[in-house]
Amino acid sequence: MNSEILSVRNLSIAFDNIRVTDRVSFNISNGEIFALMGESGCGKSVTAMAIPRLLPYPSAKIASGEIIFEGKNLLELSAKDMYKVRGKRIGCVFQEPMQALNPVAGIGAQLLEAVRFLPKENRLKRIKELMAKAELKDPERILKSYPHEMSGGMLQRIVICMALAPKPSLVIADEPTTALDANIQTAVMDTLKNLCKSENAAMLLITHNAHLAAKYADKIAVMYAGKIAECGNATDVLNTPKHPYTKALLNVVPAKGKTLADLKPIPGSVLSPKDFDDGCRFRFRCEFAKEECAYDIKC
Ligand SMILES: Nc1ncnc2c1ncn2[C@@H]1O[C@H](COP(=O)(O)OP(=O)(O)OP(=O)(O)O)[C@@H](O)[C@H]1O
Ligand code: SF4
Ligand SMILES: [Mg+2]
Repeated sequence: MNSEILSVRNLSIAFDNIRVTDRVSFNISNGEIFALMGESGCGKSVTAMAIPRLLPYPSAKIASGEIIFEGKNLLELSAKDMYKVRGKRIGCVFQEPMQALNPVAGIGAQLLEAVRFLPKENRLKRIKELMAKAELKDPERILKSYPHEMSGGMLQRIVICMALAPKPSLVIADEPTTALDANIQTAVMDTLKNLCKSENAAMLLITHNAHLAAKYADKIAVMYAGKIAECGNATDVLNTPKHPYTKALLNVVPAKGKTLADLKPIPGSVLSPKDFDDGCRFRFRCEFAKEECAYDIKC
C-alpha cells in the first residue's frame, strides 16, 4: 500500500515566461487519495495537467523539476512512450464530463474505445463490470444512448468508468463534482472513490472544497499562489494546520458549532503570477504578516 507511484519534484511551470508555479513537490503512494487544495488561480490544475503532459503547447513550459511516475521521469519520455502512459496508466476526470466525451458518438462506442487494449471477447464484460461498480443501472439502454440523453451525474459516472477502464495506477480528478447538482455530488464522489479503491488506483483530487478533502483524502497539500504552503496527513492538516494560509482557508469553512460570526473571509485576492516576487506571496492577506515577510519567508 505504501510504495510511491508519483513523485513531483521541484516542478515550476511558466506561461509565456511568467512562472505560475514554483518548485512544487509532493509524493503519492499506491492506492492513496491525495487532495491538492487551494483557492482559484493557485496553480492546482496546471500542476495536475503537467503530469500527463496535457499543458497547452507551446505557451506552457516546464521551467524546472521532474515528474517521476512508476519509476520514470515523464518529462523525458518520447511522445510515443507518453502515449502509453496517458489514458492507460494515468486516467483523468475533469469538471465537465462533456470535455471527455464526444457529443455525436454513442456511449457504447466511447466505452468500447476505452477498453480497446483488451482482447475483443473481454471488452463488453469489463465495461459492464465497471458500469455495475459505478452504479449505472440498465447498462444495455445506456450503451445504446448518446451523451445528450444522459444527466450530468450519469455522464460523470461514464467518464469515471472510461478513466478506470485501462486499470490505471493513478486517476487525476480535477474538481470532478463541482459542475454537478449539489444533491448528487456526494454520490458521484463516493462512486469515484469506491472505484479507485476497488481497482487499486491512487487519486490526485483537485479541489477548493475543504469538506471534500476532509471526507475523502488520506493526504492534503495546500497550494497558494503557485507554491505548496503545507502538506501532510489529512487529519493533521485539517485539525492542526501550521501555515497561516491553511488556517485562514479553514476559517472560511462552515462547520458544526461555528456561527456566521466565526467565519472569517480572507481579505483581498490571490496575487497574480506577474506580481510574484521573492517575498511571501501571502503577506498582503496574512494576519501574522511582518515587514520582513517581504524578503524573509518564515512559514
Ligand atoms: N493557458 C494559460 N495561459 C496563461 N496562463 C494560464 C493558463 N492556464 C492557467 N494559467 C494561469 O496559471 C495560474 C494557475 O491557474 P490554474 O488553472 O492552475 O489555477 P487553479 O488553482 O486550478 O484555479 P481554479 O480553482 O480556478 O481552477 C493562474 O494565474 C492562471 O491564470
Ligand atoms: S511568511 Fe509572513 S506573511 Fe507569509 S505566511 Fe508567514 S507570517 Fe504570513
Ligand atoms: Mg483549476
